[in-house]
Amino acid sequence: MSDSSSAVQNPKSPLKPMLAALAGEVRSRPPFWLMRQAGRYLPEYRELRAKAGSFLDLCYNPDFAVEVTLQPLRRYGMDAAILFSDILVVPHALGQPLAYLEGEGPKLDPVRNVEDLKRLSRDRFHETLAPVYETVRRLSTAIPEGTTLIGFAGAPWTIACYMVEGAGSKEYAHVKRWAYGDPVGFGQLIDLIVDVTADYLCRQIEAGAETVQLFDSWAGVLPVGEFRRWVIEPTRRIVALVKAKHPNTPIIGFPRGAGHAYEDYVADAGVDAVGLDTTVSPVWAARTLQPRLPVQGNLDPIMLATGGKALETATRDILEALADRPFVFNLGHGVIQSTPPDHVAALTRILREWPDRG
Ligand code: CP3
Repeated sequence: MSDSSSAVQNPKSPLKPMLAALAGEVRSRPPFWLMRQAGRYLPEYRELRAKAGSFLDLCYNPDFAVEVTLQPLRRYGMDAAILFSDILVVPHALGQPLAYLEGEGPKLDPVRNVEDLKRLSRDRFHETLAPVYETVRRLSTAIPEGTTLIGFAGAPWTIACYMVEGAGSKEYAHVKRWAYGDPVGFGQLIDLIVDVTADYLCRQIEAGAETVQLFDSWAGVLPVGEFRRWVIEPTRRIVALVKAKHPNTPIIGFPRGAGHAYEDYVADAGVDAVGLDTTVSPVWAARTLQPRLPVQGNLDPIMLATGGKALETATRDILEALADRPFVFNLGHGVIQSTPPDHVAALTRILREWPDRG
């Protein structure tokens, strides 16, 4: 974990703005990128997506995936490019059938007990994901100078949620009942995900990813003891495995919905920076989390879709609270489909003009 109490103003730092922030530096304008900055709100994405056929064809075709990654950068010049892929390519590469149904989101053939784990295999894992590594490799030279390349994976708990439920869910009853009722058996699934995810992130780093983010979108559904066991511990193990090979690559954790458990996560998961979801108070985060590590976040994506004065005020509030310490501006969750591209342009202007204190 970087100690951001030693934060320095160092305009001559050779680091790219995003990597400088992750290393604990503060500059006058904080770097920014947006979760789901590539996607259906952009007409050029929808056009390419129609050409590619299925969503997975898009993810596994480096020509298309590189192009889609670069689309938002051309319009808005974010400080970081995030590899275009999906967190569910990991279960797919373990042999779990996966489809994205129009308007319904992802569907997998669920694994619900230890017996079902026999249907998973690591044999073709890297072979299946080879196009993703190729996309990262090409992006590392295709992105503009000064732009940081972000790799990513889902964190084990969130990946297990989709693998066990077979889809998104309101209650996560199947995965919770397995985790609570048979922690040893469920632990085998988590161990497998920890292992392959650490490998997957190392391959992305070796292909050119300069930082990686672990998305734990469903971290917030667990009670405190289970949060420690299935969110913090597996994340800590992945961080240790990745750091053993790549000690200098910063790792961002995003335990969405963690609430007051953000503090435990920051203290114990070993990540170098933490992503804040929409519900976290920026003032609280400045006081409680930011003295320990750089934070990233947390504009409500619906505020971005709303635009106008509300967007401006909310953005400035976040900057006021967080921009004086190590900080990466982002949303608190992904860009939603109905976001007008002009609103992203307006947000970009506000961020570029900061600090105007006007
Ligand atoms: O621009 C980027 O941020 C990079 C690409 C990216 C996608 N998904 C593309 C995508 C990233 C980083 C993700 C992460 C992801 N995927 C998460 C974690 C973040 C979060 O949103 O909580 C999760 C839970 C998933 C799983 C997933 N993939 C769902 C639930 C869905 C369906 C929801 C939807 O918006 O349709 C997807 C599909 C998906 N992943 C799309 C995109 C652009 C839409 C696919 C399409 O074009 O139809």
